[in-house]
Amino acid sequence: MNKAFYLETFGCQMNVVDSEQIVAVLSDIGYSQVDSAEQANLVLLNTCSVRDKAERKVYGHLGRFKPIKDKRPDLIIGVGGCVAQQEGERMLEKVAYLDLVFGTHNIHRLPELVQQVEESRQRGCEIDFHDRETRLNLFPERTFQESITRFVTVMQGCDNFCSYCIVPHVRGREISRLSADVIAEVTDLVEQGVREITLLGQNVNSYGLKNSTELSFPELLGVVNKIKGLERLRFATSHPKDLTNELIDCFGTLDKLCHHIHLPFQSGSDRILKLMNRGYTVKDYLDKVEQLKNICPDIRLTTDIIVGFPGETEEDFQATLDLVEKVRYADAFTFLYSPRIETAAAEMEDNQSKFQKQQRFDRLLELQQRISAEIWQEDGDSVQKVLVEGLSKQGEGQLFGRTTWNRIVNFSGSKELIGQIVTIKISKVFRNSHLGELVES
Ligand code: SAH
Ligand code: SF4
Ligand code: F3S
Repeated sequence: MNKAFYLETFGCQMNVVDSEQIVAVLSDIGYSQVDSAEQANLVLLNTCSVRDKAERKVYGHLGRFKPIKDKRPDLIIGVGGCVAQQEGERMLEKVAYLDLVFGTHNIHRLPELVQQVEESRQRGCEIDFHDRETRLNLFPERTFQESITRFVTVMQGCDNFCSYCIVPHVRGREISRLSADVIAEVTDLVEQGVREITLLGQNVNSYGLKNSTELSFPELLGVVNKIKGLERLRFATSHPKDLTNELIDCFGTLDKLCHHIHLPFQSGSDRILKLMNRGYTVKDYLDKVEQLKNICPDIRLTTDIIVGFPGETEEDFQATLDLVEKVRYADAFTFLYSPRIETAAAEMEDNQSKFQKQQRFDRLLELQQRISAEIWQEDGDSVQKVLVEGLSKQGEGQLFGRTTWNRIVNFSGSKELIGQIVTIKISKVFRNSHLGELVES
């Protein structure tokens, strides 16, 4: 009998890759993917717990599956990812109709857990962490996907323990993959038709710093840059403290490396950065930005910023606004601080009101939106190289791709152009994308 599963993914790019692995292990036991829970025998959520809102969303979404299970009691419902890792058995206690919970190191165990429920209706929970050797051996294969861009995980976990962050608790200790494995995977993907690779890790640029991987991160980029058929290379997310001179130099020497870096700074106040345990000062950060701009004058930066960290004063917040003005980010993800279980910051005293935090958040957003609009407006009438990724949602005959700065461009063209780098004149700048015209292919 054909069995079907429905999967929803929340959170960061790590979860996107994990979900691709989930698809692969489930196809090994005869499950194929469908796009609604109504059609499925198995429903899975791959979850994120980075902020309280993300965690609550999981329970909200699970609620939607209850009426389906009431009608079809043999429907299997499971939760994986960071909330699963954090909550474990507690989730099974809280949600009576939940069948299985699997943690961030246990995707390989999913088939067994599913079969256990199928055969004996026995609920299961597996959230053990594994050491590096086991994890390297367990790195599950992903199935073929027709795609121009793919992520390749080079390191997993995090040892930084920023005081606000749950990631080290739910993803476990930092491990780097062997360079040879990464290179083999990229080569294979390029042979399958992939043209742009994003190397991925919670702190991608601390790759190889803790254990021997054969190559350093800049060396790895150098080798990947030479792979024939690959057009573009990106990496995310970088931690400012591990942004070495050698890595900065790559933006000047590697022709396929896109001129964009996501470099979270979190706060513009040294006092708050220290409380956050970030390991750099504002001056360290600005020096690296200057170095990046010297090596690669047209580089654009994006960032993450937290507003309302415990004890943040108006002066601290003003320093964050100042940094945003100084660096002029093309885009920023701005977050209201959310206390997380087991983290050091959750114990810190916080005397700001919700209203005050929200007001600061709105001021930051307004400033960033103005700067983003100014920067993207500069692209109007310019000519850009765009890697064509696929058919655009804008309508018939429309394609979409991205500029080196990761900006989406929609334009008319034939689908034979998918996978190629084309030259586009930008005709109109919208809030989240550009409209352009093909100059040549
Ligand atoms: N590893 C990446 C980021 C991982 S989480 C890095 O270090 O840059 C993505 C972003 O979520 C973080 O950069 C931070 O801005 C935000 N974040 C993490 N924990 C948070 C919390 N408790 N409250 C609000 N924002 C948070
Ligand atoms: Fe979280 Fe800090 Fe690790 Fe990023 S570096 S995942 S913010 S602990
Ligand atoms: Fe969320 Fe887990 Fe990623 S907490 S941000 S899905 S590592």
